[in-house]
Amino acid sequence: GVANMKVSVIGTGYVGLVSGVSLADIGHDVTCIDINERKVSLMSKGKSPFYEPGLEPLMKKNIVSGRLHFTTEIQKGLLNADIVIIAVGTPMKDDGSADISQIKQVSLQIAESIVKDTIIIIKSTVPVGTNELIRDIIFSNLSHNVEFSVVSNPEFLREGSAVYDTYHGDRIIIGSDNYRVAECVATMYKPLGMNILITDIRSAEMIKYASNAFLATKISFINEISNLCERLGANIEEVALGMGTDKRIGHEFLNAGIGYGGSCFPKDTNALVQVSDQVGYNFELLKGVIRVNQRQQKLLLHKLKHRFGSLKGKRIAVLGLSFKPNTDDMREAASIIITDKLIEQGAEVVVYDPKAMKNAVQWLNPKVNYGISIKETIRETDIALILTEWDVFKELDLSIFVELMNSPIVFDGRNCFTLDEAMEAGIEYHSVGRPVINNNIIPDRLVKLAESYV
Ligand code: UDX
Repeated sequence: GVANMKVSVIGTGYVGLVSGVSLADIGHDVTCIDINERKVSLMSKGKSPFYEPGLEPLMKKNIVSGRLHFTTEIQKGLLNADIVIIAVGTPMKDDGSADISQIKQVSLQIAESIVKDTIIIIKSTVPVGTNELIRDIIFSNLSHNVEFSVVSNPEFLREGSAVYDTYHGDRIIIGSDNYRVAECVATMYKPLGMNILITDIRSAEMIKYASNAFLATKISFINEISNLCERLGANIEEVALGMGTDKRIGHEFLNAGIGYGGSCFPKDTNALVQVSDQVGYNFELLKGVIRVNQRQQKLLLHKLKHRFGSLKGKRIAVLGLSFKPNTDDMREAASIIITDKLIEQGAEVVVYDPKAMKNAVQWLNPKVNYGISIKETIRETDIALILTEWDVFKELDLSIFVELMNSPIVFDGRNCFTLDEAMEAGIEYHSVGRPVINNNIIPDRLVKLAESYV
């Protein structure tokens, strides 16, 4: 058995809450601290402030067992903690850099509150060098004569499968300048049975940014290949399958679509570019990755323009709003810019999402209409767009587009259906990186290509 530890987690966003709940679940005594009273009172009742599959049952179980507590009072929450985990937000500033003001604020409070030797873990994604900065801030503001250590321990969980990832992740990274301290943090995580890698502090901070930048690169790369496939008459699904079979490439993160969104990739890629510029290094590849993603988010708009010219007066259904399935998170979702531009061009827009509609109201153009079901959303529309690959969309019987729409024309930004399905249903189907189905207008570019061979 592993000794139970007293752990306090500051900040209950995705990273903080999921980490806190799982640490309680593996036997530790965990207190989650957040300044938001409404959130704390919700969480104390076993309710998650955001939608995340599997999280609430785990919260309830550990609240009942007495291992999981919530409070708004930081001083009380930190009392007797062996380990304090900082998981507050590091949002993007206007210049693309990471805003670490919340972390600084919290470290001052920690410095004033700790009354015994403590390990302080920074889990929030922070620019290289931040852990050392925070160590200095705490050191010069300590109220009591205690020893402390700052450890970098970045988080790799994905929204929508955060609970699963916590128990089945590929690795835990622990960055520390003190091996004994690193071992202690490793002991805390031991019951998860995951691979643990101990590194120096700056490398740990860099691993997080480098991993997210690399994954974003994979996505932008496959999106560019898909744009080429459209122009050259190849099929991106076949291409990705053929590429991914090479073990050095791998099958994951080769899904072409309308680009990446969410709370991590856009923010972390921009922050890394910003840091690179600051140290006088021009990170050309990553700058390209970001530009490609911005272009890809508008891909469907270009296709609509090519197909229809003007969208004035068209009734357009949008299925899927969140940045990816199984989450209600709207941050950096392509749906925001796409619906905005459609309305700007005079289209009438009705949207539907299985989970994100409540959040969407704060993000989308006020002229957007909200549908009550998939069927009511596509009824009597001229065009349907699919922006998120929720299972409920992928499982649709495509004949409903033919029955309910004015004209069954579907622009699928996430390749939810096979070309055969679309062909059989008789819908006009535009997807990403694949031939257009049931539209006898041959794209100009393919005509040009054919002519060039003559
Ligand atoms: C990501 C990282 O995966 C995780 O390790 C890190 O801790 C936080 O950022 P998350 O933002 O939850 O997690 O989502 P992820 O599943 O990685 O998807 C991010 C975006 O990329 C989504 O918009 C998704 O639609 C897009 N994506 C992903 C693609 O367009 N194609 C792919 O092949 C994979």
